[in-house]
Amino acid sequence: MIDKLYDLLGKIGYIHPLHPPFTHGPIGAVIVAFCFALGMMFWRRRNFLESAYYAVAIALVLLFPTVLAGIFDWQYYYSGAWIFQIKIKIALAALLFILLSATLIAARIPDVRPSIMMLLLTLCLFNVIGLGYFGGQLVYEGRTPTVKDGLMPGRNIFVGHCSGCHSNGGNIIYPNLPLRSAPQLASYEKFIEFVRNPKLPDGSKGPMPPFTEPKLSGQQGRELYDYIIKGFAKPARSEER
Ligand code: HEC
Repeated sequence: MIDKLYDLLGKIGYIHPLHPPFTHGPIGAVIVAFCFALGMMFWRRRNFLESAYYAVAIALVLLFPTVLAGIFDWQYYYSGAWIFQIKIKIALAALLFILLSATLIAARIPDVRPSIMMLLLTLCLFNVIGLGYFGGQLVYEGRTPTVKDGLMPGRNIFVGHCSGCHSNGGNIIYPNLPLRSAPQLASYEKFIEFVRNPKLPDGSKGPMPPFTEPKLSGQQGRELYDYIIKGFAKPARSEER
């Protein structure tokens, strides 16, 4: 049934997970509620509490489609595997439901102490930050193979500068030019020369940005090269491709 849904979406040109666009709803509403709670603390005005209440109600309503889309994506893209980040996210989503419900109930208590509302909304805020953090980890960690400690500096540079386009050593713009089997990996000199002044195989300027000195020092270039070679490099393709 889930496969059919994604097939149908694919037919109208949506080939992407469903959960990410939904997440903005509850996360945004929680942040708005938190801001109103801050206003309530500073100005002690009742209508800030009222506004926070409605924002929390919206967050609670939007939590349902977001969780549902998350479950669909999890089944479709991860075959429902119990990955560590998924477990944490499910626990945090359940906790968020409890916290949002508790906040709604608390807001309806006559003369509720502002500090109680503030505490509940701070917990909600940290909860959604956690959900976003582990969601990001789930998506981005998979793009960068882990390695032993010595290669971590190189991995951090890769995550910061390269993994967006070369996820898992591939190439999202030109899939036929994956980093992992690039002829430029043959030596450090060839590699750094290319990274400082990247070109397409026909010698013309392509979409890859150049990484020159202040952005990527020589030392960082070496660490990056070590990581790529030991982390995921495959035998080079012939230069002609
Ligand atoms: C904005 C996307 C983008 C980023 C960021 C990027 N690249 Fe590239 N990379 C490309 C594209 C597109 C090509 C194809 C050649 C071109 O555009 O010049 C490429 C090609 C390469 C190649 C040659 C691949 C082949 O098989 O011929 C290497 C090596 C490479 N990139 C390394 C890196 C490294 C190392 C970083 C990080 C410092 C990096 N790239 C960052 C997009 C990117």
